[in-house]
Amino acid sequence: MDVEIEQLLLGMVNTQSKDFYGNQFITGTLANVPIVITKSGVGKVNASISAQTLIHEYQVDSVLFIGVAGALHPELEIGDMIISSSCQEHDLDASTLGFPRGTVPYQSISEYPADSKLVQTALTAATELDGITVRTGKVLSGDQFISDPSLVQYLYTELNGDCVEMEGAAVAHVCYLAHIPYVVIRSMSDRADHEAPVDFVKFTELAAIRSSQLVTSMLHLI
Ligand code: ADE
Repeated sequence: MDVEIEQLLLGMVNTQSKDFYGNQFITGTLANVPIVITKSGVGKVNASISAQTLIHEYQVDSVLFIGVAGALHPELEIGDMIISSSCQEHDLDASTLGFPRGTVPYQSISEYPADSKLVQTALTAATELDGITVRTGKVLSGDQFISDPSLVQYLYTELNGDCVEMEGAAVAHVCYLAHIPYVVIRSMSDRADHEAPVDFVKFTELAAIRSSQLVTSMLHLI
């Protein structure tokens, strides 16, 4: 999101910008770490293109993906944060062919584990964020904004998701195929229920600022 990029740019030096596929990629240094920032846009295809471009054009050695999500776990509050233990595409459905929903036919795994070192660094960085609950969890992604309690129930009980969004698993899928470590960091902007469209607009800026603060703290630890 723009607000996340603005926050990160505040601390970044030696910035240069280039466009690929209509998206801006900004290189520079933040906390003495060379980084590339880009805005993926919404949905799994846009996120996949961004991840693939970071890997192919910039040879990044890891990918941190930040943003907001809808909470699925009943104990998660708006404002809490999830560091991905893994990601899965919840809308991939070839069940009529006998493949369980959420699995990629003919591919050995469909739940992509996040890099354990990046997860640990994110958890350590999170201790600097006062008054926010941050924990690890499974991130589900699909090309749908979820605002339906019955879907929340399904995604939580059947696919064991802690939060739902629209990009993380696509990034994870690309990183898995390219052997690049990744982690997804999501702030809860809503509960994916009937109030989600309103909550999303109300809380998303605060949530986004927290995600970018966490990434900046992580870079200080790398
Ligand atoms: N991102 C933030 N909230 C979401 C929701 N409820 N569904 C999908 N993506 C989201």
